[in-house]
Amino acid sequence: MSDTGGYTVSAEFYDILQAETDRHLAEQRFTEAAVRARHAILDVGAGTGIVTEVLLRASSVPVHAVEPAPAMRAALLSRLAHLGADRRARVTVHTEPVSTAGLAAVADLAVASNMIACLEPATRRATWKALAAALMPGGLLLFDPPPAALPAGAETVGRLGPVRVGPDLYSAEVTRRPDRGILRTVFTYRVEREQEVLREAQEAFDMWPTPPGQLAEELQAHGLQLVRAPSSDLMAARRPAA
Ligand SMILES: C[S@@+](CC[C@H](N)C(=O)[O-])C[C@H]1O[C@@H](n2cnc3c(N)ncnc32)[C@H](O)[C@@H]1O
Repeated sequence: MSDTGGYTVSAEFYDILQAETDRHLAEQRFTEAAVRARHAILDVGAGTGIVTEVLLRASSVPVHAVEPAPAMRAALLSRLAHLGADRRARVTVHTEPVSTAGLAAVADLAVASNMIACLEPATRRATWKALAAALMPGGLLLFDPPPAALPAGAETVGRLGPVRVGPDLYSAEVTRRPDRGILRTVFTYRVEREQEVLREAQEAFDMWPTPPGQLAEELQAHGLQLVRAPSSDLMAARRPAA
């Protein structure tokens, strides 16, 4: 079975296979910046809310969670339901892509975790423009950049799990292959019981490799200044202070 990347397949498996690892990573990457946020935080491409929860726990300011995919938003809202009314009261969920969400000077920190690589170039540029508008003057954007270049050929880039749920083992294999300038990433999910495959499902996502120099130019062209990132796996940019 195949899918076109609306997370309709992946949403079911996302948290069981990724939440633990991704939460640790998000804590390392974003806690310090979230602690410093004084006005509000924008979580762009909030997904199932793994990063949103880290931002809410680390800060005491409002959080705007932008998540256009209904399947991922269902998981996001389930996560918010378990967070407690005080934290939930600080969250605003936006259901449109950030480029059409109409956010103006709402946050002094914006986080785009694990999503910029998935934007085709025109959408990526519209996203920079929307992020520059959504940040307050002096506000900081943190994101993990797309791969700089295409790999030479197909490769298996990772395995998620196995994670046990009762008698069943959940796992995924992640492969990538270059396809006419695009990096096609395929997640193959498996549920096994007593060494038998109960079911298998696939979802493919396209990624657009972009050299860091081009990202810097795009950011600059849309009113964001590249600044030193807090860790080597992130890029950072600021909206200049007024
Ligand atoms: C791989 S998930 C990452 C989720 C989360 N940030 C994390 O790290 O766990 C990428 C998310 O970005 C969302 N997304 C894609 N395009 C978007 C856009 N233009 N604006 C906002 N979110 C978008 C997708 O629906 C998806 O939920």
